[in-house]
Amino acid sequence: MDHGIYGPYADKLKDVLDIVIGAVKSCGDSAAGPHGEKRYEHIEGRVKTEESMLGKLSRRCLEATAENALTAVYDAVGVRVVCRFIDDVYLMADLISRREGIRAVERKDYILRAKENGYRSYHMIVEADTPFPGPVGGKAFYAEVQLRTIAMDTWAALEHEITYKRDISRRDLIWEELKRCADELAACDVSMQAIRDMIRESGERTDG
Ligand code: GTP
Ligand code: MG
Repeated sequence: MDHGIYGPYADKLKDVLDIVIGAVKSCGDSAAGPHGEKRYEHIEGRVKTEESMLGKLSRRCLEATAENALTAVYDAVGVRVVCRFIDDVYLMADLISRREGIRAVERKDYILRAKENGYRSYHMIVEADTPFPGPVGGKAFYAEVQLRTIAMDTWAALEHEITYKRDISRRDLIWEELKRCADELAACDVSMQAIRDMIRESGERTDG
């Protein structure tokens, strides 16, 4: 029964995923815009496969134990929140980390500081309380929450497709071009945010 890498917690990880996704959804719904605008475009989630977790433990020279898989690696449970605008990304991150039963224990802002290849996203490691025993403090699980705009998500999906398990030299023209696309998309995100802000301001003036 408990022979997999997730040991006695294997059956629970899907429930943890549902708990975190439910929390994210309800944060978004509670903060819908004045005209019912959703704060996220869509939410994805996955439980890391055993194979992928074993690979990660081995790359990190960690012993293949359930304890390590769930408390030394933080993304056995992963949720991705794709938003329309940059301000929604930060709003959602803020709401999620304030939500009861969820605590952000680490944040990486790759929007403020993009990765060298141009990757952008806001990452949080959260501790999520569960109604069943968990490996973190005996009653919680870790999960990785990635928040990004549609443009950032588009780039990450294409970059993954192009470079996944392929040996492309870091100095290759392909990297240069990918980086250029990331920067162009980021510029569009900033423009779209500015347009939204302008429309909001003018809307406020007409309404009031
Ligand atoms: P991991 O071992 O990947 O967890 O490294 P880390 O703990 O330093 O995490 P980091 O926050 O840098 O990235 C974790 C996750 O973000 C990855 O598993 C990907 O889903 C995503 N990610 C990070 N960098 C890239 C990138 O360059 N391209 C794409 N497509 N996704 C990325
Ligand atoms: Mg990680």
